Amino acid sequence: MTKIISIANQKGGVGKTTTTINLATSLSAIHKKVLIVDADPQGNASTGMGISYEERSPSLYELIVNRELDKKAIKETLVPNLSIIPSNTNLVAAEVELVNVEKREFVFKDVFDKSLNFDYILIDCPPALGFLTINSLVASSSVIIPLQSEFFALEGISSLMNTIQIIKESFNSKLSVEGILLTMVDKRNTLSALVEKDVRDHFGEIVYKTTIPRNVKISEAPSHGKPAIIYDVNCSGSMAYIGLAREIINKVNK
Ligand SMILES: Nc1ncnc2c1ncn2[C@@H]1O[C@H](COP(=O)(O)OP(=O)(O)OP(=O)(O)O)[C@@H](O)[C@H]1O
Ligand SMILES: [Mg+2]
Repeated sequence: MTKIISIANQKGGVGKTTTTINLATSLSAIHKKVLIVDADPQGNASTGMGISYEERSPSLYELIVNRELDKKAIKETLVPNLSIIPSNTNLVAAEVELVNVEKREFVFKDVFDKSLNFDYILIDCPPALGFLTINSLVASSSVIIPLQSEFFALEGISSLMNTIQIIKESFNSKLSVEGILLTMVDKRNTLSALVEKDVRDHFGEIVYKTTIPRNVKISEAPSHGKPAIIYDVNCSGSMAYIGLAREIINKVNK
């Protein structure tokens, strides 16, 4: 059984791509077969996994337009067991081109349901609640919501929760919130601690015990085209993402 997880938050720069890449790498390190789907026209997950621009075709765009998967769109990465369907800038057009197609919310679901042989598919969503994020949520069994530990963390979260609820009611009754992940946490900063308390008081159990610290190695890794976990496995950020993978696996086994 393939578990499909969207990493989503319409707020920009909260750690969606960083979480997708490093969680995927952690899962593949424990011998899970993992696919990243880069559903963001910015292509940050593709860059962060070291996929060159020449390699980004066919991409997710062709999958959307043809409504079927060309196996050539699945690229191997430097990490064993971890593949990626890259994005390219054509993806910007997908939203507009698909305004009038039939069942436009089900494009990802219809393709991913067909014999994709992975333990996990992690979809890196763009910072918007449009066509790409909706397609991701419709195709997923759950969603991980990264929240940046700062003053405006909770802003916009109610519209994301509303969208998730609407998708549950209309298109995908199986969709659940896998967890809320606090990112860029600075334990020495009082505001960061307050935000964490606020988020835990508000959302309770669904907030992961694991939090991701602010860590410079995490922000350096993408410029080397490597997950932080490969760039420096011992840094605090890598250790936290390995802990997150463990927490997710243990939750399933409970
Ligand atoms: N734990 C961390 N410590 C330090 N820097 C981080 C951390 N997590 C993410 N960053 C940096 O913050 C920036 C935003 O992170 P990221 O790209 O993962 O967010 P995003 O939600 O995917 O953004 P977008 O909405 O643009 O897709 C990046 O430069 C990234 O390297
Ligand atoms: Mg991103």
